[in-house]
Order: sequence, then C-alpha cells, then structure tokens
Amino acid sequence: MNALSKKINFHDFQPELESFRDAVLEGLSRNPKQIPPKFFYDKTGSKLFEAILEQPEYYIPNIERALIQQHADEFAELIEPGAVLIEPGSGSCEKVQLLLERVLPAAYVPMDISGDFLQQAACDLGQQFPWLPIYAACLDFTQKMILPKGVPSGRRVVFFPGSSLGNFDPLEVQHFLAGIHRLVGKGGGLLIGVDRKKDHTTLDAAYNDAAGITADFNLNLLSRINNELEGNFERNQFEHYAYYNDPLGRIEMHLVSLQDQQVTISGQDFSFTEGEFMHTENSYKYSPDEFIHLANAGGFKHQKIWSDNNDFFSIYFLEAY
Ligand code: AVI
Repeated sequence: MNALSKKINFHDFQPELESFRDAVLEGLSRNPKQIPPKFFYDKTGSKLFEAILEQPEYYIPNIERALIQQHADEFAELIEPGAVLIEPGSGSCEKVQLLLERVLPAAYVPMDISGDFLQQAACDLGQQFPWLPIYAACLDFTQKMILPKGVPSGRRVVFFPGSSLGNFDPLEVQHFLAGIHRLVGKGGGLLIGVDRKKDHTTLDAAYNDAAGITADFNLNLLSRINNELEGNFERNQFEHYAYYNDPLGRIEMHLVSLQDQQVTISGQDFSFTEGEFMHTENSYKYSPDEFIHLANAGGFKHQKIWSDNNDFFSIYFLEAY
C-alpha cells in the first residue's frame, strides 16, 4: 500500500503485462481475430476515452449526468448514508462527484485497470472532497474485484455508470453480476446505468464521431501493442469500423486491414488479408425487460428505474438478495 495522503490509499493489484501479451497472441490466433476491449485503456487510451465522452454524437454522458443530477436525492436515499461506494472502471471519477455530497459515504473505492490514471483521479478527487476516505484499487475488474484492507464497514453499494456492462458478452455479464453479488453481499446495492436499444442512425453516429476520436481510440490498440509487446503494426494500414448489429443487439467495433500484410508481435507472425476484420469491442444495448431479466438471474431484484424522455438510457437501483 502506498499512502498518498491520510485519506487516500492506493492499492496495486495490477494485472501482469503477461496477461495482455497472452490475450493478444491468443486473440490474433483466432478466426476471426479479436482483442478484448479492456486493453483499450492504457494511459493514451484512457485519455482518448475521456475525449469520446465530450463528443456530441456520444449521447450517453450527457443523458446520464442529467439523470444523476435530477435524481441524486432519490439515489442517496436508496444507497443509504454511511454506505461504502465502490466504482469498478472509475476512470476520471467524474460522475460519482455528483453523488458524494448527497450520499456522504463512509468511503469511496474507485477501481481501474490504468494505474497512473487511477492515482491521478484519486488525488484530484481527494482535493475536492477532503473529508472522503478513498481506497483506490488498481485491478482488472473483469477478473477479480477485491476490497482493499482497511475499508470501513457499512452497506456495500456498487456504482457502475456509463453502460460499461454493455461491453460484456452475455456470459461475462453473469460472471460480473456474480462478482458484484459476492462483493456487496445480501442487502448490498447496485446503481447502474445501461444504454437502451434505439434507432440505428443514433447508435451508428455515437461510435463514428465526426472528429474521429473513436477511430483514434480503436487504432490506439495497435500503438499499445507496438509499444508494450514489440509489435510492428502500421497504424495507417488499418481502419476503424463500427456498426449496429441489429440481430445481436450490439454495436460492434473492428479494425479492418487495408491490405494483405504481415505483422510481428513478440516474435510471432500474423497474416492479415485485405479487408479482414479484427474484432475489438461489443457494446450491447438492453431494453429494461432484458436488463431486469439478466439482473434477476444474477441475484438482484430491481427497486427503481429512471429514464430520459426519449428512452435512450436508463439508470437502475438493484438490491442483492
Ligand atoms: C466504456 N463503454 C461503455 C463504451 C461503450 O459505449 O461501449 C466504450 C466506447 N467505445 C467506443 N466508444 C465508447
């Protein structure tokens, strides 16, 4: 443990570099090739994701922020004062700031895979909320979620905004909900934002912003492989491609090879044909019925749902039973 100040603790459960190498070498040996989306988030990727959140086409943050601002008092009542608020994939810890003064939690536990980014976000938050004990945990929340030592008692409530659940496939959702259930225990809570099915034009535009930030975010994966795994991808020989797959109810992101080419990563060769897709992300969209069904199967009963006027996005409060 590395104490940054009396109230900010940083715990490093950082995944080994090897797991990134294994995932890339394994994923590129498959047909079709694929790389799990959690590897987008190196320092540059995390910054690019923050920039995506500012793009006018990416409607999720504005709608979700407005819903949180509008209903923060109700959320606080359901969360209960003195709870320990846990946020897997906390990023810049921006949204939780809208809740902290209302909820007055006993502690806040941000969890993120990007150590540098997490440390910075925890420091910034600590300056803004000096009364708040923060236990930052650098970990891969898709693998294991551990509460750092010293976290005070109090009802455990997970805050999972931004529709990050959409990036899991159906099996991973079950695994994730089981992990949350273990973490919060019976009677614990889950406040979660989930993106909904809607017209394809809105969805396609959200993942193809005019400024090209989502394209950079997707292509940064190649730079990360080059930097960390001795790869020799030529970034300009690949193109970002994202579209809504209606039958599967998900946005799919791919990197498309613009020519026949060979790439070497950690001494291993991979061939790409012109037009070949490498699958980098799914972003599932759920109707309330679909999501509540999943939550029930994971041991959570739904207590309340809030949606915007267009029914683009919903926030749910669920309790573990
Ligand atoms: C983090 N996650 C919820 C985002 C999404 O919408 O699936 C990641 C993202 N990918 C491209 N744009 C945003």
